[in-house]
Amino acid sequence: MAVAAKPGYSCPYCATSFNTVDDLKDHVLKVHGTEALPRPEGYVKLTVNGQAWELEVAPNWTLFYLLHDQLGYTGAKTFCDRGACGSCTVIIDGRPVLSCMTLAIECDGKNIETAEGIAAAKHPLIEAYVKHHAMQCGYCTPGFVVTAKALLDRNPDPTVEEIKEALAGNLCRCGTYPQHPIAIIEAAKKVLAARSENTPA
Ligand code: FES
Ligand code: FES
Repeated sequence: MAVAAKPGYSCPYCATSFNTVDDLKDHVLKVHGTEALPRPEGYVKLTVNGQAWELEVAPNWTLFYLLHDQLGYTGAKTFCDRGACGSCTVIIDGRPVLSCMTLAIECDGKNIETAEGIAAAKHPLIEAYVKHHAMQCGYCTPGFVVTAKALLDRNPDPTVEEIKEALAGNLCRCGTYPQHPIAIIEAAKKVLAARSENTPA
């Protein structure tokens, strides 16, 4: 389990600082003779692309700030930083969510998926987006791909209208809109084919 070094962990008994929870636990046991470790306010455990994290977050941190600036998941982007463009979309427990409008402290116990995880898993969306030129500058693309992944997870055979509805919150200044349904429908066919191959007869 990875433990973020920032912003550090303070001993609740003597205020000594440590970089990791394990170091803090060792200290509390050795110096204070107890395993009791009060959970600090703002302490969260979450999973990002299968990687477990536990860390303390400030009350004003957005999920975007936590992922992008603290943990190094730079796939999500901020265009507007006010919930209007969808470029910061990540998946939380199966639902596409705007990370610029979500507080990190709300994400305790959540399972988060980002564009990096989707690319690392070689999801058919990646190849389809490249093949069908569903991007120009590419800045908005992670948000579209993440939203499309959440759509295919819940509806692996969407219609063009359903795709347009799912992507309604994602904006693209380069005007790539016509290419997204084409790429997503091709990816959906591959997702369905893979599922039927893995389904016992
Ligand atoms: S950056 Fe989050 S919706 Fe635009
Ligand atoms: S590809 Fe440039 S903003 Fe969408």
